[in-house]
Amino acid sequence: MTEIVGNQETVNQKLWGGRFSQSTDKLVEKFNASIDVDKRLYESDIEGSIAHLKMMAKQGIIPQDEAVTLIAGLGKVKQKIENNEITFSASLEDIHMHIEDALGKVTGDVARKLHTGRSRNDQVALDVRIYLKKETRIIIDLLTGFQKALVKMAQNHLDVIMPGYTHLQRAQPILFSHHLMAYYEMFKRDIERFQECLKRIDVMPLGAAALAGTTYPLDREFTKEVLLFSKVSDNSIDSVSDRDFVMEFISHAAICMIHFSRLSEELILWSSSEFSFITISDSFTTGSSIMPQKKNPDVAELVRGKTGRVVGNLVAILTVMKSLPLAYNKDMQEDKEPLFDTVDTLKICTDVYTRMFENIQIHKDQMYAACKQGFLNATDLADYLVSKGMAFRQAHAVAGQAVSYALNQGKELNDMALEEFKTLSELIDQDVYAFIAIDKTIARRISYGGTGFDNVKTAVGKAAGELGV
Ligand code: ARG
Repeated sequence: MTEIVGNQETVNQKLWGGRFSQSTDKLVEKFNASIDVDKRLYESDIEGSIAHLKMMAKQGIIPQDEAVTLIAGLGKVKQKIENNEITFSASLEDIHMHIEDALGKVTGDVARKLHTGRSRNDQVALDVRIYLKKETRIIIDLLTGFQKALVKMAQNHLDVIMPGYTHLQRAQPILFSHHLMAYYEMFKRDIERFQECLKRIDVMPLGAAALAGTTYPLDREFTKEVLLFSKVSDNSIDSVSDRDFVMEFISHAAICMIHFSRLSEELILWSSSEFSFITISDSFTTGSSIMPQKKNPDVAELVRGKTGRVVGNLVAILTVMKSLPLAYNKDMQEDKEPLFDTVDTLKICTDVYTRMFENIQIHKDQMYAACKQGFLNATDLADYLVSKGMAFRQAHAVAGQAVSYALNQGKELNDMALEEFKTLSELIDQDVYAFIAIDKTIARRISYGGTGFDNVKTAVGKAAGELGV
């Protein structure tokens, strides 16, 4: 295992092997390698290297013709990777060294100039930022697509009435479209969070080198321009030692998954025989291997389950970073698995949800029927008494007595005779029935942001306009 480097023989053939007199233990090699995970950064790595070469040529750090050779060589390496012509191996540790090694095989010795003025520490920080910028934009688009599905469903079921719940007990009638628009708002904030963190991902770290910057006359602004970054990082130590943009991205993803998980829980409940508010089409459900009658909402369940993975990824990255002294530490190689898994999970969950939404049937009669039981208009009876001059606290007590009376009688409030109401309060008249009718309880919720028909129509129209649906 000897190789001539300069005039000396080196025992360890690694790109960093010069000072080593023993070769790396095979188990350590396997343990240390990240290639299985970081190979997906190959495109970003090549893009970063090309920009670095262009900058070095412009600055006269390497001759122009060599830069041209190396850039063409990197193009060939990319093709080779895409044609599966490169065998990845633990001995070359990570994607950065695989690409440099492959470039050497394409261009010969000149490839040894590629790593001038940079370190794998700033290189990997750059690669992850290039990758995450692209993925964050894709995720924003996917989430916008899902918002469109939500808004379309709201448009198609604008006046459908369902019970609104608190404590999972029927509370007050609401519009189903209003309930959907609550999720629209949550995903809107998720998108805003991703857009916001995009600003902090969009910072170009190359040139920080190992940690201290470099002695070469780099033009970092130029590299930034070539790579279409918005800004150059200001501190070389920070550039290579923080992964807060990864932590931030995963925490936004975890919040977003929690929104999906809550929606999943609702879809699962609503599709049960107990609720029967919705039917998810056969193509988005699965059967049971033993119970022939079963149709299970697996997609919603899996999204709910996968939320656990993303929350786990957040805990993983936070724990990896906790207590790390500046600057780079190898611990940070552990950032990629949670990050990639989060990106993959969020993307597929958003995609599958968007498509599932086109495959959900709404049972408006069941939803409406559910509003008729459980005294959902009790608050409205209190409001009625307030409209007749009674103080709200007292009105609340009278409406409570009415509920208790009706419960004993096995009826709902609107089934009570006027004489029965009169025993509770003389203020109650014939017009109470119209006042506490389900549709009226909705129509009267006119406060801004409430479930009133006009409010919701305006909110859905505004969202539809913004999304162009
Ligand atoms: N594979 C490494 C990582 O992902 C690249 C940086 C290695 N730097 C080093 N000083 N060993 O973090």
